[in-house]
Amino acid sequence: MPAEIDLSVPHICEVQMTTTVNISPTSPLGVADHTLFVCKTCASVWQDGKRLGESGGEKLLSQLQQLAQDWDLRDEFPIQEVECMSACNRSCVVAFAAKGKLTYLFGDLAVDGSASAVLECASQYYAKADGLLPWSERPEALKKGILAKIPPLS
Ligand code: FES
Repeated sequence: MPAEIDLSVPHICEVQMTTTVNISPTSPLGVADHTLFVCKTCASVWQDGKRLGESGGEKLLSQLQQLAQDWDLRDEFPIQEVECMSACNRSCVVAFAAKGKLTYLFGDLAVDGSASAVLECASQYYAKADGLLPWSERPEALKKGILAKIPPLS
């Protein structure tokens, strides 16, 4: 005979759900709806199988993190560093992704001078329901280096 469950006491799952919902202001599941991926390995200098110093990707990531402190979307559009996005010969590389939107992969970004353009373009992406970023509207630094435009999952 199965054990009876006292339904008058909140189940542990209900308690955990309430806690999880409050973790992030961006999603009822505590998961950000938008993510700016930045490759931190791009533009590395290698010697004897070891990376020398700070990579270009790390420098760009650092600039983006610094600028994002004053970005009005910093909480809604977190920056996530990644090891590689398989576009290594087109460094530096970033990507925009969001639920229900196109995913964009951009390359050929200069280590210095492109961070503000990346955040400007990310803001444009955020504002569009489908994430579409027409060439004519993108900042100059992100006009030429588009490597992929991937449809959203349906
Ligand atoms: S090292 Fe940056 S995409 Fe591979």
